[in-house]
Amino acid sequence: MAVEWVYSPTRIDWVVLSELYKLAPLGDKDPNDLKTAFGNSRYFCFAFDAGKLVGAGRALADGVDCSYICDVAVLPSHQGMGIGKTIISKLVEFSSGHRKIILYTAPGNESFYRRLGFKRMRAAMAIFADARQALDWGLLYED
Ligand SMILES: CC(C)(COP(=O)(O)OP(=O)(O)OC[C@H]1O[C@@H](n2cnc3c(N)ncnc32)[C@H](O)[C@@H]1OP(=O)(O)O)[C@@H](O)C(=O)NCCC(=O)NCCS
Repeated sequence: MAVEWVYSPTRIDWVVLSELYKLAPLGDKDPNDLKTAFGNSRYFCFAFDAGKLVGAGRALADGVDCSYICDVAVLPSHQGMGIGKTIISKLVEFSSGHRKIILYTAPGNESFYRRLGFKRMRAAMAIFADARQALDWGLLYED
């Protein structure tokens, strides 16, 4: 398999990207929301196999202090082939120079990120618009 790497969102079909996240699975993401989110992001990494989008990720960054990596997912048919690792490594490389690179993960994926150099934060906190869903997905503590 020869993966083609693309670092710009210009040729991305947002409906196809939304489908990738549904299948990965990384939840239901509206195509128009994805267009806005990726449009406001700084770094991108997409993987194509024979013209088909099979992996994606982005980073929201301010250029000096903080880069936040999110929306990283790989199609199930292409998981376990090193694509996710390469997406994160590329976004980390693009983010070099930032004082911190931050992400959070669904419980169970921590070792994937630990092996890529990430350390657990002691006091990360967040306000989720849908706190109930975040609780259900194990992203938040109850208190
Ligand atoms: C998590 C995900 C992005 C990993 O992508 P991938 O292409 O399957 O991962 P890779 O093939 O690059 O794996 C790299 C290494 O991490 C390991 N790994 C993969 N997924 C892992 C996981 N969930 N937990 C722990 N280790 C994992 C692999 O075994 C591999 O190990 P190796 O280097 O010793 O061979 C992908 O499985 C996915 O899209 N999952 C669903 C969506 C999701 O959870 N996204 C993460 C956002 S929080």
